[in-house]
Amino acid sequence: MPSMAHGGVSNSTSNKLDSKVLPNDSFARRKKILQQRKSLPIASVEKRLVEEVRKNDILIIVGETGSGKTTQLPQFLFHGGFCNDGKVIGITQPRRVAAVTVAKRVAEECGVELGQRVGYSIRFDDRTSGTTRIKYMTDGLLLREALLDPYLSRYSVIIVDEAHERTVHTDVLLGLLKKVQNARSKTVDDHSNADNKKASNGRLFDKENGVQRNSSFKQCQGRKFPSLKLIIMSASLDAQVFSEYFGGARAVHIQGRQFPVDILYTLYPEPDYMDAALITIFQIHLEEGPGDILVFLTGQEEIESVERLVQERLQQFPEASRKLITVPIFSSLPSEQQMRVFAPAASGFRKVILATNIAETSVTIPGIKYVIDPGFVKARTYDPVKGMESLIVVPISKAQALQRSGRAGREGPGKCFRLYPESEFEKLEDSTKPEIKRCNLSNVILQLKALGIDDIIGFDFLEKPSRASIIKSLEQLFLLGALTDDCKLSDPVGHQMARLPLDPIYSKSLIVASQFNCLEEMLITVAMLSVESTFYAPREKLEEVSVYGMLNVEQISVAWFFWYTLAELLVLQSVMDYECMQFVEVENLDWTACGMAMKCFASPDGDHLTLINVFRRSEEFLENRKMEISKEKNEKLLRKWCKENFINSRSLRHARDIHSQIRGHVEQMGLRISSCGDEILQFRRCLAASFFLNAALKQPEGTYRALASGQAVQIHPSSVLFRAKPECIIFNEMVQTNHKYIRNVTRIDYLWLTELAPQFYTMQN
Ligand code: CDP
Ligand code: MG
Repeated sequence: MPSMAHGGVSNSTSNKLDSKVLPNDSFARRKKILQQRKSLPIASVEKRLVEEVRKNDILIIVGETGSGKTTQLPQFLFHGGFCNDGKVIGITQPRRVAAVTVAKRVAEECGVELGQRVGYSIRFDDRTSGTTRIKYMTDGLLLREALLDPYLSRYSVIIVDEAHERTVHTDVLLGLLKKVQNARSKTVDDHSNADNKKASNGRLFDKENGVQRNSSFKQCQGRKFPSLKLIIMSASLDAQVFSEYFGGARAVHIQGRQFPVDILYTLYPEPDYMDAALITIFQIHLEEGPGDILVFLTGQEEIESVERLVQERLQQFPEASRKLITVPIFSSLPSEQQMRVFAPAASGFRKVILATNIAETSVTIPGIKYVIDPGFVKARTYDPVKGMESLIVVPISKAQALQRSGRAGREGPGKCFRLYPESEFEKLEDSTKPEIKRCNLSNVILQLKALGIDDIIGFDFLEKPSRASIIKSLEQLFLLGALTDDCKLSDPVGHQMARLPLDPIYSKSLIVASQFNCLEEMLITVAMLSVESTFYAPREKLEEVSVYGMLNVEQISVAWFFWYTLAELLVLQSVMDYECMQFVEVENLDWTACGMAMKCFASPDGDHLTLINVFRRSEEFLENRKMEISKEKNEKLLRKWCKENFINSRSLRHARDIHSQIRGHVEQMGLRISSCGDEILQFRRCLAASFFLNAALKQPEGTYRALASGQAVQIHPSSVLFRAKPECIIFNEMVQTNHKYIRNVTRIDYLWLTELAPQFYTMQN
């Protein structure tokens, strides 16, 4: 890889200040931060950048990751007067973690409290106030804000960051911002110009007049807004596509720093990349010089699993070689834990960052010298014919591989260990397909409709999704009752659904549940379904159990999938080997979903009620201890409870946050919140009425057929119904490995489908 190094080289290890000294010493820390800021490539072009923004209404900024775009540009603009009159600079990020960590960093750089001048707002977490002038947020959140404020009137500048990621929200946002900018420039321009009449008539989007339904829009009529500055920022060099989309907008490049990175490949394909990653971590730790390691994994489960395995293996090393710490970073990590990746390890220690592709470009972590790249990413795929969206682990693109290896050469020469042969690299796609081409569009269509944009096929997309997938998504929205026969948003259901910050199918389930008198239960369900991996088995617990028998840890954990109790296990020992073998063959799953723990929460009716049990027991637990404790102690006790019950405390906390937020939303909407109590049948009927699009019927050979898509699927081994295999079920998630698995499954009666969803099941028979 060519070196484009220039100026101020700092060795990664010299940055490793002892974390014990710095946080307390705020003066030294501020001085260091100031130094860091001054040495960023962007610092030398502050004046020029501000001038460019002044001169151009649309500006595209391209710069190597780590050059300081995200953290510095908003501050430059703030000081450049763009927040006069109380206006706000909004910066969108494709990822929650990026919005949160960057906002915290910038607040610190400005020496202000988070939520004051600098804040962030992401779904289910808002840290802004009336005084916030620099606001980081997710791209999806800004889209939602447009529902309430179609002119985005409080913003003077909107920066769409990480545009190269091409998330579906970024793509739609760009189309929307183009319209908003147009409309806003028209409202300030000379009103005698005939062209502008349309805008001052009060129409934001001239093609349709649906916007007029929006009450907040009416308040905007006749008001004037200053023009809106739009900045598109991207790490890759592909500025052309954005520039063309915005009619030949000006693009500027910020020179970055990149040191040479040695790329190493494996000789042969690795059958198990997690294992290969583990081996490589220790190889680097034992054989290479100082410097932190960044490992790219595909999700929370993998990250937590590798984290445990590293800890375990470390115990086998002599004391002197144990100076290795692991830090995870993924989107749903509780926000106070996210900042841990930025804290340097104590002196003499090496830090291993276990990250999702979030660390590719969104989040720049200092100190990295080694990158381990297994070459995979978890991505959404959508089959418009079957109408099924699923998450699958797929190979990354060449562009992603380059970004990943680049992370090793930010502060000095580095090394990247690609856990695949060079011949495999050559086979990778050049770049990643934009998400809009591979996801279910019903969510964005619902939002566009709520904004009054009815002609979805005619919308000015950066890249048009296929007609088939637009039509399939419209059809789904129609079946959910969100659209009328002539494809307009229905009243009240469609409007209510658009207000909820959830997937349409979940929004609908809350509305349905209020009619079934079980909204309490559905709120918990939706919150629990919004987090990954509720159950897990800490290794030491497994070992504790293993001393009772002669089984090894793997056997026990695998057996738990099959719902054996410990006693049964010992009796069944002899058949275990056979079943284990078979199981391992079927699916190279790790043992995180711990059956035994689930057993005490398990409901014979399915996973939804099991998840509700987990949530409610945790509530009861806290309720019983309410008198004794402070908030911190509360958290600590809950973590302990989680550990004892094999619950992932990070996930549970996240679910509790989400729960209270959506509860707030449905309260505001005036939906009736009540519980069905012991009437479990009622709740299962409600699940059938809500998730009828995801129903499946058992086939004679014991597999299932998803009714809407006709696909053959299997119940995932982590489901409580894995062994029971009821006749008819609904499910919430499809994951694809060697098989198509469905997760989060509840038994229903198939007659309910024709009764409760006649719009679908009589039509399709
Ligand atoms: O956006 P871009 O990739 O150009 O860079 P940035 O995110 O603005 O990061 C600039 C510098 O700030 C990097 O050197 C990061 O290491 C540092 N940074 C940090 O130390 N802590 C954060 N939470 C965010 C950034
Ligand atoms: Mg950035």
